[in-house]
Amino acid sequence: MQIDVQYSLVSENHGRFNEFWMYKWIRRLALITAHVAALGFTILISVLSRPGTSFFSWHPVCMSVSFCLCMTEGMLLFSSQESPFCFCSRKRREWLHWFLQALVVVGGVTGVGFMVVSKRVSERPHLTTWHSVLGVGTLVVTVLQTTCGLRLLFPNMSLPGPPLPRLRLYHTTCGLVTYLLAVATVMLAMFSDWFQATMRGLLWYPVALIPLLPAMVVMSQVTRVYLSKKKITV
Ligand code: HEM
Repeated sequence: MQIDVQYSLVSENHGRFNEFWMYKWIRRLALITAHVAALGFTILISVLSRPGTSFFSWHPVCMSVSFCLCMTEGMLLFSSQESPFCFCSRKRREWLHWFLQALVVVGGVTGVGFMVVSKRVSERPHLTTWHSVLGVGTLVVTVLQTTCGLRLLFPNMSLPGPPLPRLRLYHTTCGLVTYLLAVATVMLAMFSDWFQATMRGLLWYPVALIPLLPAMVVMSQVTRVYLSKKKITV
C-alpha cells in the first residue's frame, strides 16, 4: 500500500517535470519564431518596396524596420530566460530598450515624412485611410511612451508624477497597448492598394498574418511575467 502511494507520488512528480520541460521548450520555440517572424517580415517588406525607386518606397522600409523589428526586439529583450540579452543586467536591458524605442521614433517620423512628401508630389490627399489615421495615433502614443520612459530610466530625478512602481506598471500596460496599435497599423497596411497589388493570390494570407506571431508572444510575455507580479506589489 505504502509502495503504491510512493510510486504514484514519484510518477506524479515525473509527469510535472515533463510538463515543465515541455512548457519551457514550447516557450523557447515561440520566442525563436517571434524573432524570425519580425526579422523575416521586415526583410520581405523592405525587398518588396524596392527602396530608392520613389519617395514612397522608403515608407514601408522605415516603418517595418522601426515598428516590426526594433519595437518587437525592444519588448522581447525583457523575456526572462530565452532572450539573447538574458545575460545583461536589468539596467542595461532598460537602456537598450529605451535606445531601441528612440530608434522607433526616429525611424517612424522619417517614414511618415517620406509618405507625406510622396503624397505631396503625387498631389493625393492625406489621411484618407484607416491605416493612415491609426498610423498617426500610433506614432503620437509611441513618442509619449518613449518620453515617459525617461523618468523610469532616471529614477533619481525628482520629476512630478505618480510613484515609480505605479509608473512602471502604467508604462508596461501602455507599452503593450502601443505595440498592439503598431501591429494593427501594420496589418491595415496589408489591405492597402500597394500591398494588395504587390502580394497577389493566396500568398497574401500567410504574409498578412505574420505580424500576429510576435504580437502573441509579446502579449503573453508582458501579461505573464510582468503584470501578474506587479499586481501584488502596487
Ligand atoms: C510596414 C508596413 C507598412 C506599409 C506597407 C505601409 C504602407 C502605406 C501605404 C501604402 C500608405 C498610402 C496609403 C494610405 O494612406 O493608407 C501609407 C500611408 C501612411 N502610413 Fe503606412 N505603411 C506601413 C506601416 C506604417 C506604420 C507602422 C505607421 C505608423 C506608425 C504608418 C503610418 C502611415 C501614415 C501616417 C500614412 C499616411 C500619410 C499621409 O496621409 O500623408 N505606416 N502607408
